Parts: sequence; C-alpha cells; structure tokens
Amino acid sequence: MRVGVLTGGGDAPGLNAVIRAVLKRAEQFGIEVIGIRYGWAGLLNMDTVPLSYKDLEDKIGEAGTVIKTSRTNPVKDEATMNKCIENFKKLGLDALIAIGGDDTLTAAKRLHEAGLKVVGVPKTIDNDLKGTDYTFGFDTAVNAAMEAIESLKKTGEAMDRVMVVEIMGRHAGWIALYSGLAAGADLILIPEEPFKISDVAEFVKKRKAEGKGSLTIVVAEGALIADYKGPITKDTKVDQYGHVYLGGIGEFLAKEIEKATGFETRAVAPAHIVRGMSPTAFDRVLATRLGYAAIELVRKGVFGKMVALRGTEIVSVDLSEAVAETKLVDKSLIELKNALTI
Ligand code: F6P
Repeated sequence: MRVGVLTGGGDAPGLNAVIRAVLKRAEQFGIEVIGIRYGWAGLLNMDTVPLSYKDLEDKIGEAGTVIKTSRTNPVKDEATMNKCIENFKKLGLDALIAIGGDDTLTAAKRLHEAGLKVVGVPKTIDNDLKGTDYTFGFDTAVNAAMEAIESLKKTGEAMDRVMVVEIMGRHAGWIALYSGLAAGADLILIPEEPFKISDVAEFVKKRKAEGKGSLTIVVAEGALIADYKGPITKDTKVDQYGHVYLGGIGEFLAKEIEKATGFETRAVAPAHIVRGMSPTAFDRVLATRLGYAAIELVRKGVFGKMVALRGTEIVSVDLSEAVAETKLVDKSLIELKNALTI
C-alpha cells in the first residue's frame, strides 16, 4: 500500500508530530508513505519526497512542516481538480492524508466526492474548525500569545501606557480570548462581537479614572469595528481561497484610543511568532493521536472522513460536517470574558 501525506494552509505547531506518528504506524504495517510537498501544489506538480520514520523520529518538538506547505487551492477549477485525480493515479497512491484547516479540508472533501481516497487531519492555530473540540497548534499559539501579552503588560505598567496587542485569529477569536483571559487582559475584542471605537475609548477613560495606571487590550486580527466595512487589512491582495491579508487593527485602534483619550498608547502584533513555537505537550500528544488514527482509517479503507478530538476520545467525522461552518467562540465563553474584563 502507498499513501501520500500533505500539509496545507498556514503551518501549525504539531504538523511534524502528526507526520511522525503516521510514519511510525505505517511502517508497522509495511505501508509506504510519500510526502507531497507544499500542500496541494505538490499533487499538482508531482513534487514528492520519500519519507521514513527515522527522518522524523527526533522532530516531535519541531514547529513547521518537513514537507512544506502552501495555500494552493486544487479545486479552483475543473482542470486543477482533474490534474489532482490524474496525478494521484500516476503516483500509484492508494490513499491520501491531508492535514489542514478549513480550506485544505474543503478541497479534500470535494476531491473525495470526485473519487479521491482521502482522510483529513484537522490543523489550525485558530481552532475554528467544526467537528473537533480542539485543533493542534492552538494550545501552543495560546501559550505563546499569553507570554507576549504578559511581557507587554509589564512594560505598559512601567510607563502607565495603554498597550494594544493584536493576536492572530481570522474569523474566530479563540486565541485572543484564551490568551487574553490567561494573561489577565483588561479588554478582549474578537470577531464574534463587533465593537465601537467610542466604547473602547470610554472604557479606557473609566478605568483610568478608577486609578488603573496601565491597560492591556487584546484584539483579534479579524475583529470587526461596528459600522466599518469589513475587517482591517494590510493589503487588498487575496490568496487562492479569496482570503484577504489581515493585520493592522491593533495600530488603528491604538491611534484612535490615543486621539480620543489623550493617554499614551502603543500597539504590538506578535503575529506569526505564535505560529512557529515548539509545540506544547498537549499539541504533541493530540497531533500524535490524530496521525495514528489517520493511518487506522486508511488501513480500514474508510475515506471522506476527518479524525477528530471529541471530549477525550479520538473519533472520525464526515469531512462535509467538519467544513460545513466555522467554529466560533461559544456564547458561554463570551459571557465569561465579558464578566471578567469589561
Ligand atoms: O493559519 C491561520 C492563520 O495563522 C490566521 O490566524 C492568519 O490570519 C493567517 O493564518 C495568516 O496567514 P499567512 O501566514 O498566509 O500570512
């Protein structure tokens, strides 16, 4: 049996741990595994690499992905879809393990419907994929973001400043909410709750009047300002899935706060730094369990599924269920956030 494995979309800490587990389990059953490089681009260009467990053995704690990744969309038209199916056959593959987030797995679902034997593994630091309780990479990103916020809180305190920290999170505010709560931020702004600049300014004035010397405000990069058209972007360019390049809301907000309140304000965006950290133990173990489960599905000949964490169990769910909608932050967590911050 010959199995291809690819990693698609933005990298997440734990990708190498998944591949490592896939290889270990595959070798126990004499299954050959090849890496398809740069995500779906590798399938379109037949860019592959042989993989063996010994190459990954010592990489459980390494961020990034040894087989590279990209945001290539293989289902953007019929020609690319057909090319994928043709190349899958040319490579002599019996199955494909696609490790990715919403975009990669939506493509996997469509290719499965077109006949490809695919198993999905959920990955995104954003944790916004339905069908799984957590994605690996999220815990690492949260811990890295928490440390960044705590550090900025300290320098903010020393100079009585308002510190605005912009944290990754395109459609959902999971990382901002978890890291902000864990670091004791004063205010956390997430895409799920559009906010008014005037409300933030009033909040700053009120807390300052109450005697708080410095304030820390966490804002998710995809947070929305009420009455403003869409998220703040760095660029008008879009990727192959039509996503704009987000970024800049922190700077924007900091300027507005300083203008409205007169308090010195600084903005910092840890951005990709939270994506390249060595995976936490939680993410390493989750990634390992998912890699193992993916090979089990391949061995059983079960395709069109995504392996997932539900409670403490690893289960499999239909790819169509996993990509049906974005997993936004729960209402109960938003209530908790609002009770503990505002
Ligand atoms: O992979 C998810 C993510 O990290 C988002 O939080 C962020 O908006 C995006 O990727 C950044 O993408 P890129 O690495 O292509 O700039």
